[in-house]
Amino acid sequence: MSTEDPATIEPSGIDSAVEHLRNGRLVAFPTETVYGLGGDATSDLSVTRIFAAKERPRFNPLIIHLPDVAAVRNLVVFDDRAKRLADLFWPGALTLVLPRRPDCRVSLLASAGLDSLAVRIPAHPLAQQLLRAVGRPIAAPSANRSGRVSPTTAAHVRDELADRVSLILDGGPCRVGLESTVLDLTGEMACLLRPGGLAQAAIEAAIGPVMRAQPIADGAVRLGPGMMTSHYAPGLPVRLEATDARPGEAFLAFGAPPAGIVPALQLSVDGDPVEAAQHLFAALRALDRPEFTGIAIMPIPEDGLGAAINDRLRRAAAPR
Ligand code: TXA
Ligand code: MG
Repeated sequence: MSTEDPATIEPSGIDSAVEHLRNGRLVAFPTETVYGLGGDATSDLSVTRIFAAKERPRFNPLIIHLPDVAAVRNLVVFDDRAKRLADLFWPGALTLVLPRRPDCRVSLLASAGLDSLAVRIPAHPLAQQLLRAVGRPIAAPSANRSGRVSPTTAAHVRDELADRVSLILDGGPCRVGLESTVLDLTGEMACLLRPGGLAQAAIEAAIGPVMRAQPIADGAVRLGPGMMTSHYAPGLPVRLEATDARPGEAFLAFGAPPAGIVPALQLSVDGDPVEAAQHLFAALRALDRPEFTGIAIMPIPEDGLGAAINDRLRRAAAPR
């Protein structure tokens, strides 16, 4: 394969994926949330390649993917809250930030020098197979270039990364469609760093109240390293809470559109936030085209996954 060629997309190339990963190369793989750009988390070289492929700032740490709780416990200090959440929600769309164990073998570059580590057990069967077969912790940010919309199909990954990834495992469209919920358990009070595919209410039902990290403007001191305001952004300007379509705008509907407006795309005819989450990133990509001047999006209620959808949309609409 020449370096100009886009990566091969394979439905089930687990063996070659394992070989690439063991040799320090990058493999994109499906999870139930979004596609990840995987590399060996114990290798400084692999981790450096992930940051380079994404053009990601080095201070923004990566999530470490593992097949089961036993593997997680080798890397981080696991408390009662973590155990309760793991029992209920893993494998699934939840990432926990926990203290690194002193003997943790994950590259410090992956956690950007922090003494904590973000860990997740994904549910997608291909991700599970891959993680079991490779037998190493896999660092995997979303498989998009930094600042852009996360990929929810193998074709999106190829559009984003082309030859910057050695292999793309194709597991079809992602079931959840939004990145995992990131919960920081390093302090006394659990702190939601990023709303995502698991609703805050489900977490609070399990471990009690959770505080919300405030998004921090780029340039300010960063407590939640990935919380820059502008992110997840298509190329076109995005207008939120739209009740009309201005000339040239593509109108993205959620439920019944206002009278007289023909939507360019629909997130969910029934106004279901779970279905809307599934379609959100593919819709933003599909409408990000030169024949439009912008993307106008109908209001979406904050209930359930609505909170995470609106978080992504506010970042997509934020000043660049
Ligand atoms: O659903 C997902 O979470 C996907 C799939 C591939 O697992 N991954 C993903 O990774 O969205 P990424 O790199 O795009 O987002 C990781 C988020 C960032 O906001 C990052 O700042 C935060 O997790 N994070 C990672 N390690 C952290 C740490 N030690 N402390 C605080 N935040 C951390
Ligand atoms: Mg990302």
